[in-house]
Amino acid sequence: MIDLGLQGRRALVTGAAAGIGRAIAVWLARAGCDVALADKDASGLKATAEAIAETGRRSEPLTIDLREDGAPAQFVGQVVAALGGLDVAVNNVGMLSGRAPAPFLEQDDRYIHDVVAQNLLLTAACCRAEARAMVAAGTPGVILNVSSGETTRPALDLAAYGAAKAGVNHLTQTLAAELGPHGIRVNAIAPGTTLTTEVRAALSDEYVEALTASIPLQRMNEPDDLARLVVALASDLGRGVTGQLVLADNGAHLSRNRPNRPGAASAS
Ligand SMILES: NC(=O)c1ccc[n+]([C@@H]2O[C@H](COP(=O)([O-])OP(=O)(O)OC[C@H]3O[C@@H](n4cnc5c(N)ncnc54)[C@H](O)[C@@H]3O)[C@@H](O)[C@H]2O)c1
Repeated sequence: MIDLGLQGRRALVTGAAAGIGRAIAVWLARAGCDVALADKDASGLKATAEAIAETGRRSEPLTIDLREDGAPAQFVGQVVAALGGLDVAVNNVGMLSGRAPAPFLEQDDRYIHDVVAQNLLLTAACCRAEARAMVAAGTPGVILNVSSGETTRPALDLAAYGAAKAGVNHLTQTLAAELGPHGIRVNAIAPGTTLTTEVRAALSDEYVEALTASIPLQRMNEPDDLARLVVALASDLGRGVTGQLVLADNGAHLSRNRPNRPGAASAS
């Protein structure tokens, strides 16, 4: 049997009430972690906590808007108090903050500021709070940031989002160098389009079919695909990996005939 080294580890996941974040939280629990959950959606958090209860591990759900001043530090403080420390932190909150993709010429200052705050500023504030807690405890740790496959090519109609996620990639690399001597590994995952309930509802059947056909592995991500990758990177299987962006898009970045995204589709 392979020991992943995650038994009894203390983890947190932001944006854990739905989609990729919920899958990551449940899979970390399946791998043996107790998991603190942050989200502004209380009922979604409850459903995630119930799924974690089925694994036999503990969850600590906290309903919080992480973009409020000081909220990331408050959440991390509560996690450390409740779980007795922090070993694995997954910064998953992102997307377009309720907005639709739009050509750059139509992205006003408010739009750009909001999307950068949601994806880059929030991730930086979470990383800082988590790293401070890990360094103060003198224990090794893992920080994983959720970026996007959109950072591997021009992010058409998603300029602010792509730029913010590219900032997350650079932040990840720099923090890996600064925090490595403290035994903290920092990596990012870059999902391709992932069929969460929300994303699937925003895409037409024709677009999903055409996109799937254009992808070398002929499949699209389910949220569980990213959760599996997070468990691998958080575990001892990934112990030598830091400062990396791991692209998980079924080979979509290699495609020569990616179909055009319809105007109203969600960000990926
Ligand atoms: N779904 C995709 O196709 C895809 C592709 C590439 C990257 N991503 C990235 O993966 C991550 C998760 O995406 P998803 O599709 O699962 O998103 P989602 O919208 O389904 O879930 C995000 C969760 O974050 C919560 N949240 C949002 N703002 C918050 C805040 N200020 N404070 C607390 N909680 C907040 C929401 O309530 C929600 O539960 C994001 O960073 C996204 O950019 C998604």
